[in-house]
Amino acid sequence: MAMLFENVVLSSLTERGEIKQNYSTPVRLEISEEKDNRQIQVINGTSVLQVLPLDREVEVAKVGGRGIVMSSNSYSVMLVFPSTKDLTDFRQKISASISPDGSIFRERTDSASAEQYFQFYGYLSQQQNMMQDYIRTSTYQRAMLDNTLDFQDKVVLDVGAGSGILSFFAIQAGAKKVYAIEASSIAQHCETLVQSNKMYNRIVVIAGKVEEVELPEMVDIIISEPMGYMLFNERMLETFLHAKKWLKPGGKMFPTEGHLHIAPFMDEARCTQNSTQRQTSGTSRHFMVWTCPVSETLPSMNILYSQ
Ligand SMILES: C[S@@+](CC[C@H](N)C(=O)[O-])C[C@H]1O[C@@H](n2cnc3c(N)ncnc32)[C@H](O)[C@@H]1O
Repeated sequence: MAMLFENVVLSSLTERGEIKQNYSTPVRLEISEEKDNRQIQVINGTSVLQVLPLDREVEVAKVGGRGIVMSSNSYSVMLVFPSTKDLTDFRQKISASISPDGSIFRERTDSASAEQYFQFYGYLSQQQNMMQDYIRTSTYQRAMLDNTLDFQDKVVLDVGAGSGILSFFAIQAGAKKVYAIEASSIAQHCETLVQSNKMYNRIVVIAGKVEEVELPEMVDIIISEPMGYMLFNERMLETFLHAKKWLKPGGKMFPTEGHLHIAPFMDEARCTQNSTQRQTSGTSRHFMVWTCPVSETLPSMNILYSQ
């Protein structure tokens, strides 16, 4: 079914960046859903004035609260919608057509492993495990409660909200509003927690992938717990960074930095065991990674080096 957007002001952008309003009155946009022929028809009354093909060449950029610039090899236009909601709906609608296979996330993640990944996080027991990791959870809470000035009356985005625990901490720290994006089915439970705690005016749960959903406004702070084993495992740091598209200039990221400590070591017994395994299994893994907690305090460095 085609989707309509009324009262849109359409202007063309010249090579030199000049803006020229194409039609004297606002137009209607009709997005056709036809497979292999996705396009936007620009309509006035019953006449089709222009057709804007939607393909993977199209790049988009938001302009102010209600505008968007769309550029491809064949056109470069600016569209201004009557409301922010119209713009959000429009972007959501075209996003599947303009990026390969729907989104940057799908581009980089095989669908079977994504399904398995989000299924894992959909278990209440897994979210419970994370929340019960006292050091992890309390460190995040302390980071926010020790920096209430950063959160006071601010709009916050929680990337991969899970149970919503960090969103609630942000509220404790004084946030005005929190958008909690979560892709797994735990989003429903997060919504239940928001409702039960009567936080519906302040925490908005958005079910979906960060790379595929739309936010109605830009945010002051992005919070997340995106660290996998060896920091990079799970590739959630990429999602955390992707979310910066919604961060206002000068906005803050919690956490701001990640440190990965790597120390080479030699263990004769392990080496022999490894090479025997290699010979019998035919694999050729020469290095192994041993993850263990390490802080910069001397005792733990000693433990690491002594292994
Ligand atoms: C390490 S857990 C943290 C959950 C919660 N923030 C906490 O601290 O307890 C990461 C969460 O991010 C979600 N997630 C991972 N990648 C995502 C993405 N691209 N879009 C939305 N949610 C994502 C996972 O489903 C998972 O619930």
